[in-house]
Amino acid sequence: MKKTRAIITGIEAYLPEYILTNDELSTMVDTSDEWIMSRVGIKERHILKEDGLGISHMGAIAVEKLLKATNTKPDEVQMLLCHCVTPDMQFPATANIISDKCGILNAWGFDTNAGCSGFLFTFETVRRFIESGEYKKIVLVCAERLSCITDYTDRTTCPLFGDAAVALMIEPTEDETLGFQDSILHVDGIGRKYLYQVAGGSLYPAREETVAQRLHYIHQEGQAVFKHAVVGMADVSEKMMQRHNLSSEDVAYLIPHQANLRIIDATARRMGLDKDKVLIDIEKFGNTGGTSIPLAMWDFKDKFKKGDNLILSAFGAGFTWGSVLYRWAI
Ligand code: UT7
Repeated sequence: MKKTRAIITGIEAYLPEYILTNDELSTMVDTSDEWIMSRVGIKERHILKEDGLGISHMGAIAVEKLLKATNTKPDEVQMLLCHCVTPDMQFPATANIISDKCGILNAWGFDTNAGCSGFLFTFETVRRFIESGEYKKIVLVCAERLSCITDYTDRTTCPLFGDAAVALMIEPTEDETLGFQDSILHVDGIGRKYLYQVAGGSLYPAREETVAQRLHYIHQEGQAVFKHAVVGMADVSEKMMQRHNLSSEDVAYLIPHQANLRIIDATARRMGLDKDKVLIDIEKFGNTGGTSIPLAMWDFKDKFKKGDNLILSAFGAGFTWGSVLYRWAI
């Protein structure tokens, strides 16, 4: 019996208007364009400035565009999942809020949280629903306002992060050669020591002291995360190629999580890929967390041809990491 596969039939994005440049950051903390470009590869990032909007604002705009582009009526959507570590509120889930804003009334859904590997983990979840045969239209949203948990007095983290939202329509196909082919996903709790936002949850609820101690911001031990990320992302990407007997010629593009150009280069080197097969837009968007892979997919989608093998690879807080083999289907 032929296998049902999950395919992306539409992808739309929203980027907030305000652009924070390295030059502006250099007026806020002791840093420089030269340091940020040579150590990370970021030139600028989009920032949602206005409090009172949140990620549902960005996500809803992306979903509205998606419904229009795919000619989908809101009541045809059966499920909407939202990946984020910066939800509008602790509850209700931002997936509910986006569904409400977009008039999606016949769907159910929830939020997921897997750090910067979140798109891969959520896409894996969505594909299982599609492969069950019971779901025909699922909307997957990745949205982050990482600027709201970034400490703009800490030069080791404030150049890194940006805000964005991406919405994808996922549908079934009976052509088993296309779409979501395979995933390799991992978690390792050792990572919780190196990358976290300590306060605001049930462990350390918001208090005057937690605010005074700046505990509501991202804390990252950059070098430790870097070392694990270089090994993790390269290992899992190479393993995916081996599992499917893919040579570097068989891979059309690597779409990596955009955290650091040096991590991306190391992954591409291990896969034996030339530079033109590695999709990189970290320079203009920074690290948008779990949103970065679908954002790059949206950014470069005009390059893809039906049947192209795309390897998606990520590493993030948790630690979480993984790789997906996706064959472009439209
Ligand atoms: O997306 C989720 C997963 N996250 C990642 O994958 C991120 C992984 N980590 C990284 O990408 C890198 O570790 C960073 C970009 C965060 C930092 O780069 P690094 O090359 O590891 O720098 P470092 O932390 O080792 O710092 C080197 C030096 C230090 O100065 P000293 O002690 O050598 O005098 C820092 O104080 O660079 C200094 N430094 C800066 N200098 C200018 C740190 N941040 C800055 C800055 N501007 N913004």
